[in-house]
Amino acid sequence: MKTRITELFNIEHPIIQGGMHYVGFAELAAAVSNAGGLGIITGLTQRTPELLANEIRRCREMTDKPFGVNLTFLPVVKSPDYPGYIRAIVDGGVRIVETAGNNPQKWLPAMHEAGIRVIHKCTSVRHSLKAESIGCDAVSVDGFECGGHPGEDDVPNFILLPRAAEELKIPFVASGGMADGRSLVAALALGADGMNMGTRFIATKEAPVHENVKQAIVAASELDTRLVMRPLRNTERVLRNSAVDRLLEKERALGANLKFEDIMGEVAGVYPRIMKEGTMDAGVWSCGMVAGLVHDVPSVRELIERIMREAEDIIRGRLAGILAT
Ligand SMILES: Cc1cc2nc3c(=O)[nH]c(=O)nc-3n(C[C@H](O)[C@H](O)[C@H](O)COP(=O)(O)O)c2cc1C
Repeated sequence: MKTRITELFNIEHPIIQGGMHYVGFAELAAAVSNAGGLGIITGLTQRTPELLANEIRRCREMTDKPFGVNLTFLPVVKSPDYPGYIRAIVDGGVRIVETAGNNPQKWLPAMHEAGIRVIHKCTSVRHSLKAESIGCDAVSVDGFECGGHPGEDDVPNFILLPRAAEELKIPFVASGGMADGRSLVAALALGADGMNMGTRFIATKEAPVHENVKQAIVAASELDTRLVMRPLRNTERVLRNSAVDRLLEKERALGANLKFEDIMGEVAGVYPRIMKEGTMDAGVWSCGMVAGLVHDVPSVRELIERIMREAEDIIRGRLAGILAT
């Protein structure tokens, strides 16, 4: 399949694995890239730029295909060493960066000078247009369904994607709720140039997370996610567990008085315990509604090949067949 996204990133299939904290290690990124998609290492999961440089080296040992690095610009007072991370990316020869969170404008010149193509993750048409206007090469449009941070507008992809297509000139991928060949064909039909998946890629053989995490996604239905931190305007879609129930109870009890400190226990530093140790109730963790469409734990290659086969069957068979009758 050839789209503006496969051309931009020099990949075979228009499928991207979004950056995921404590999931996007070299093993997963390399597996996705080797299968013809675009794998992405999560920059900030590596605590220092030196560790990121090492992770990039490890990934390069596992694949000779293009892969990217996610840089999430967090709204925190003491910000991570972003210049250091960008240096590690540039020196490591990575040519694709997925940015997310705050506006990446400040960091674009350094990345563009190094020949890096930047895809910025946006949850609204206005942010996508802003990304286009500051010179991002592409955007990943994340609908309300998505795992992680869906923003505060609550517009699902059936509306958000065609709205983005109406306004954007640069290529964009559909993100949030994408799982299979049907998702890919739908995303293309709605005007996107490919798709980005998070949750679906966690339930794969190569995802370097505890088996409990994969099984929790397989067991979950589309009804099992919750939105947390809405009162802090930092909404996150997570899989329901006892920590989520506790957090939501605090949100109810404290109302407008809720502060981040009140929920630190459920939120801060919990990912290693969940993703590595498989202690599923240790805290809240991002998961998309698409868990309801995840029924197995295939290898990344099986998953991507299945998606492409299914997409082709839908286009050539079902859709062409409808036209013919
Ligand atoms: C466990 C998990 C961790 C994530 N961590 C990050 C992150 O650190 N930075 C980021 O930009 N997006 C992060 N995301 C969002 C994904 O990159 C992607 O945009 C999202 O999962 C797409 O929605 P889906 O889960 O429905 O496929 C995370 C998602 C999940 C499920």
